[in-house]
Amino acid sequence: MLRFRSSSLDIQLSYSIRLLSRVPPPRSSAGLPVRALITVHMAAAVVAATLGSVAIVFEEPHVGLADSYRALVREFVGAGEPLVPFVLAIPADDFGEFLRRLAACARGEGLPPGFVPHSTYWLVNDGEVVAVSNLRHELTDALRREGGNIGYGVRPSARRRGFATVILGRTLEPARQRGLGEALLTCAKTNVGSVRAIQHNGGELTSEEFIPERGEVVQRWRIDLSSGVR
Ligand SMILES: CC(C)(COP(=O)(O)OP(=O)(O)OC[C@H]1O[C@@H](n2cnc3c(N)ncnc32)[C@H](O)[C@@H]1OP(=O)(O)O)[C@@H](O)C(=O)NCCC(=O)NCCS
Repeated sequence: MLRFRSSSLDIQLSYSIRLLSRVPPPRSSAGLPVRALITVHMAAAVVAATLGSVAIVFEEPHVGLADSYRALVREFVGAGEPLVPFVLAIPADDFGEFLRRLAACARGEGLPPGFVPHSTYWLVNDGEVVAVSNLRHELTDALRREGGNIGYGVRPSARRRGFATVILGRTLEPARQRGLGEALLTCAKTNVGSVRAIQHNGGELTSEEFIPERGEVVQRWRIDLSSGVR
């Protein structure tokens, strides 16, 4: 399992635990200004209220939850939805081979032409894979137009519980660790859930464009990664 240094969500969750256990938060932990503390504290209340649980793990794919992951993909297929992020389309019958392929993708090995190195992460809630994210380590012109740095998808049966907001927030941390100063997110204008998740993570709308191949307006959002806590 990956261990990341404290992120804004870790702080939110630690505050959630404090809220749930009615322990008052410290006045200036993490050296945050008072206004930021208040913001974080309020965000924690939202996270706590939305998730109702803090048994959430952000980790790299592993064989221990192969069946849960396969069930997530089956839900997308059963719902007739596009496989987002695109790595959901990688065959996972042979899970060892699947994991080796993801690891190679993260090292930039064996990629199809035009693809950049990318890493995949899971969000696990109570032992089930509820969401998957994919971090593109760099951008191409094609990704700048559509695709961006990060894609994510939430298991259909686990939606509207805040998991998109959480997995996006958590994926910003490895992005920051890779030296990205900002993350580009793209999203259909009509995808309200995704737009809200981006906004919750500090996204600023930078442009929007009608993409004829998709027949819809795609928005581009920027998330500043230069500070650890927004
Ligand atoms: C879009 C998607 C990721 C949202 O996942 P989610 O876990 O349901 O999102 P969240 O629970 O974090 O919701 C964030 C906010 O959007 C709202 N929301 C989520 N889905 C919504 C919907 N279909 N309609 C209206 N609001 C929605 C939530 O209520 C929440 O509202 P809040 O601002 O009051 O907190 C999920 O529907 C999905 O996987 N879709 C298919 C793949 C996809 O579109 N990925 C994104 C590509 S850009």
